[in-house]
Amino acid sequence: MVADARRNGESLVILTGAGISADSGVPTFRAADGLWEGHRVEDVATPEAFARDPALVHAFYNARRAHLAAVEPNAAHLALAELERRWPGDFLLVTQNVDDLHERAGSKRLIHMHGELKKGWCLACDARSPWTAPMGQGARCQFCAATGTVRPDIVWFGEMPYDMERIDEAVRNCDLFVSIGTSGAVYPAAGFVQTARYVGAHCVELNLEPSQGSIFFHETRMGRASDIVPAWVDELLA
Ligand code: APR
Repeated sequence: MVADARRNGESLVILTGAGISADSGVPTFRAADGLWEGHRVEDVATPEAFARDPALVHAFYNARRAHLAAVEPNAAHLALAELERRWPGDFLLVTQNVDDLHERAGSKRLIHMHGELKKGWCLACDARSPWTAPMGQGARCQFCAATGTVRPDIVWFGEMPYDMERIDEAVRNCDLFVSIGTSGAVYPAAGFVQTARYVGAHCVELNLEPSQGSIFFHETRMGRASDIVPAWVDELLA
């Protein structure tokens, strides 16, 4: 069935989450203790947290940004980049991840719906700029030169994910929808499978364990992303 999709040049949408980067050494969000690298989500990943304690929020994201230098794309990221190069139809990779491992693997048609660790967002002039250094309360916007107005370009809880119109159109027009390494706990991403299924797409889940929306998929394959994603891509391109 999947090989038929490729032969027919069909439209493919892939959604990824933290699980695809887990094998690279990037921690996932929903650890057994309910904490995210030792913090409650509401203390580091909400606009209210940033207003209350910007130093803590900056320190949290500075640590995660710095950690990117210590990790590399794994076989799953590389396989998706190869799939994009060889897929004959429309292709869109939507990631909830804020790391840069997809682009470092070579992915191009990529949307970071929850923002990017390596970008800053100036609340004074609304510009997004590349950001690799630590960010602090005195950060200076490279566009408008304001200081103290730059925040991590991360979509926090309670904020609208990016590029939703483009994503929605791609999901509504896809023939094959694949979800990789996401728990299906956070909307709107968790609802993409329902839209894809409604429009008749074949829906595949690749994850370590069944996600919260597992029942919506026609096909589920369980295992580590760095094993099962390359195997699935090989099958699709065979
Ligand atoms: N290979 C495949 N899947 C894995 C692996 C692995 N090596 N390790 C973990 N997983 C799976 C887990 O079983 C889980 O289902 O990846 C999923 C990760 O789930 P979450 O930690 O909830 O991450 P994600 O779904 O990306 O979170 C969505 O929530 O906190 C917010 O904005 C944040 O983008 C994030 C969003």
